[in-house]
Amino acid sequence: MVCLGNICRSPLAEGILKHKLQKINVNAEVDSAGIADYHVGEQPDKRTIKNALSHGIDLTDLRARQFSPEDFKRFDLIYAADASIYHALMMMAPDDEAKKKVRMMTEELYPGQNIDVPDPYYGGEEGFEKVFQLINKSCDAIIEKYFKTPQG
Ligand code: 4NP
Repeated sequence: MVCLGNICRSPLAEGILKHKLQKINVNAEVDSAGIADYHVGEQPDKRTIKNALSHGIDLTDLRARQFSPEDFKRFDLIYAADASIYHALMMMAPDDEAKKKVRMMTEELYPGQNIDVPDPYYGGEEGFEKVFQLINKSCDAIIEKYFKTPQG
């Protein structure tokens, strides 16, 4: 899960997806990173932590890191929070195999529609709840597509 600062959208996506996978007993590596290095080493934004906690998700152990080209090898799927992150990742991708791993975070929920998860950093609290709802639904769609067995 990749956003700009790795303190709002992508740590939330990491926390939500991990929480959902744990509930269905799926063991998969989930991580998040930012394109920028502004907040490396920091906890998620206080407003993101508070909003996630109100939904039963604890992000306090997460620390921001910058996306690394190594991540193209380490992960099978790389989800970009918005179109600018998507394009930055496509520019960084070393080859076609890496490019194929990159998609929009909302892609499985709204296929082909290129819907951004808006950056809530400069807005009010309601923006954080909107972001939660969109990422939560997007993660349900990711699980439905990649992690649901025929037995459920
Ligand atoms: P994020 O939000 O990309 O969802 O973590 C942002 C966090 C910090 C900044 C921008 C967006 N910033 O400019 O510092």
